[in-house]
Amino acid sequence: MSAVSCAKSKQQHSANYDLVVSQLLAQMTISEKIGQMSQVNGAEGSIPDDFAAAIRDGKIGSVINEVDVTTVNELQRIATKESRLGIPLLIGRDVIHGFKTIFPIPLGQAASWSPDVIEQGARIAALEASTVGINWTFAPMIDISRDPRWGRIAESLGEDPYLCSTLGTAMVKGFQGNKLNELGSIASCAKHFAGYGASESGRDYHTVNIPENELRNVYLPPFKAAAEAGVATFMAAFSDLNGVPASGNKWLMNDILRDEWDYNGLLVSDWDSIKQLSTHGFTEDDKQAALMAIDAGIDMEMASPTYRDHSESLIAEGKIDIAHIDQMVARILTLKYQLGLFENPYTCAEQLPNIVNEQHLNSAKDAAIKSCVLLQNHNNTLPLSTANINSLAVIGPLADDGYEQLGTWVFDGEEQHSQTCLQAIKKHVGDDVLVNYAKALDNTRTDNIEQINDAVALAAKSDVAVLFVGEEAILSGEAHCRSNIDLPGKQQYLIDELAKTGTPIIAVIMAGRPLTLAKVIEKVDSILYAWHPGSMGGPAIADLLFGNAVPSGKLPVTFPRTVGQIPLYYAQKHGGRPVSDDSYVHMNDIPMRAPQTSLGMSASHLDTHFTPQFPFGFGLSYSKFSYTDLELSAAEINFNQTLTITCQLTNIGDVASDEIAQLYIRDLVGSVTRPVKELKRFKRVHLLAGESKQVSFELCAQDLTFYDRDMKLNAEPGKFQLWVGGDSNASLCADFHLLANN
Ligand code: GLC
Repeated sequence: MSAVSCAKSKQQHSANYDLVVSQLLAQMTISEKIGQMSQVNGAEGSIPDDFAAAIRDGKIGSVINEVDVTTVNELQRIATKESRLGIPLLIGRDVIHGFKTIFPIPLGQAASWSPDVIEQGARIAALEASTVGINWTFAPMIDISRDPRWGRIAESLGEDPYLCSTLGTAMVKGFQGNKLNELGSIASCAKHFAGYGASESGRDYHTVNIPENELRNVYLPPFKAAAEAGVATFMAAFSDLNGVPASGNKWLMNDILRDEWDYNGLLVSDWDSIKQLSTHGFTEDDKQAALMAIDAGIDMEMASPTYRDHSESLIAEGKIDIAHIDQMVARILTLKYQLGLFENPYTCAEQLPNIVNEQHLNSAKDAAIKSCVLLQNHNNTLPLSTANINSLAVIGPLADDGYEQLGTWVFDGEEQHSQTCLQAIKKHVGDDVLVNYAKALDNTRTDNIEQINDAVALAAKSDVAVLFVGEEAILSGEAHCRSNIDLPGKQQYLIDELAKTGTPIIAVIMAGRPLTLAKVIEKVDSILYAWHPGSMGGPAIADLLFGNAVPSGKLPVTFPRTVGQIPLYYAQKHGGRPVSDDSYVHMNDIPMRAPQTSLGMSASHLDTHFTPQFPFGFGLSYSKFSYTDLELSAAEINFNQTLTITCQLTNIGDVASDEIAQLYIRDLVGSVTRPVKELKRFKRVHLLAGESKQVSFELCAQDLTFYDRDMKLNAEPGKFQLWVGGDSNASLCADFHLLANN
């Protein structure tokens, strides 16, 4: 990076700290500088002598996973009162979707399509995490995720760059507040930079091969948006990206992040990801790993000790320039100043709101309500009414499990704060309805079907059965990938047996990923997809089941019919031989001895229809909506004009409800092929029964830009299509032209 651009970017981010940082740097020894670049794991509420000594000697810049506030304050006291220069510590923790009040998993929150829900959830998480001295969270995770086999899709914001960018920046804002040094604000972290979600075969930590054009047009935009939103830190991915592991990838970490994007925040490795450069076979040993990571510009090493062990010798050998180290340490010190840690490194919990307070729980309930997606509702089985049912069977391994409903990445959440679905249903119906409960299966994976007959008997004698199935929390999240994404264990067998009773069945599915639901769909009346809904999942789902709230969630990720369709996403390329309903032939419909070319030649699978089970953006309501009167302010725009798109959105059902109107475009011809649809705007609209509102969106040339064949960000003149509707199958369409920029 040239000195000028670096100085410029520092001026942009921290003009008022450059002087104090440079003055402090000038006093630091090499050992103290390297100490700042090291993040070590806490000791679970204790401070062993060697830990205290290392802090006292300035050999540690950050502690991760210490959540005992007394211990954190003592660590800060040692660092600031007993070390030579008194530099405070960054205290990091994975506060991914709540600290003590647990919100729906990020993929669930993404289904709300609500930046406000996301920001509020992150704000509450930051306030609660601050009570124990955490000042840095490793979130938002903004890896574009298009493979539901991958366990970490649970902590992502889905498959779409625009939705992920919008919601990711809302999460940054929630965590960081207006200023990092305000009470309750914590530094956030854009992770995992970059391309991690494309891990081959949906296996975690696996190879990632993404052509640069695809990387720039799909996987990088949410990170660029986070950088522009002022995210305080970035985290390097574990992935071997196109043969160069991200944690040693100078093109990614320096050329893109620092030079192109002019980002000057702290860049931390992932856990041991620097040491793992040798495991990848990218470096010979720890010393070379440290060299490659420092050269790439990874400012801080999480967990592994390669920086501590080898940086001084690398500097002494002239392989690393101390000026480069100074730049890295400056970014770390700057964040500590921005957080106000030099003024006050200590935590006074009494100055912060109580954790798990009523307002926080109500916010978590609202988030869960907006996150649930109604996928099916045959015969309008939902909403239920206590007026016309006398008995209700609540069945399944996830009906009354306050731990499992929290989902993955819940280091600090506690089951005791959860309200389960069974509890909430009983509370809701009171004495009006007889509630019969049967767990039916010990857990979601068991093959033990001994309890199923009792559950079936309960369903048979009940007016309706509400079934709670899906995945336990452990079946998604980091390193928890699945090659088969059907309901695990004997849950399908349970559904099949319940269906034989003829009792209407409502399936509430809790999972950390899209599941393949073809066999579920044909056996149940309604499906409410709740992801893992968090502490308040019970009351939220009860309100939705009984119509006190109306489902409004929309899928942030495509649901495939079969795992064999993966990767399957709405923004696919058109290809040269696209398939259509007219051209598609299913294997079962092929005549005997059909001639080889008789089936037509198009991009499809013989054994599975080419469409998804449920498309991106899909979600039903208890009402229905119509989109009409699509109008454009012009048939063409140039690079300086704005196109206004309006349409009439009408609630043609009989209950008030929210609808998330979506705007998609297609660039029909590009210097590189373009997706058949791209989400560009969305808006949550509340409509009373029968009410109609004009929905309006604006687009300009900037919204039409993409990285072209020469990797330049451009909008290319030509014809575009646009659609407005309630999901990515939107059909209300119009054309417009972007004129050449003369
Ligand atoms: C993990 C994850 C990362 C997390 C970090 C600290 O391995 O990849 O997302 O923030 O280590 O727990």
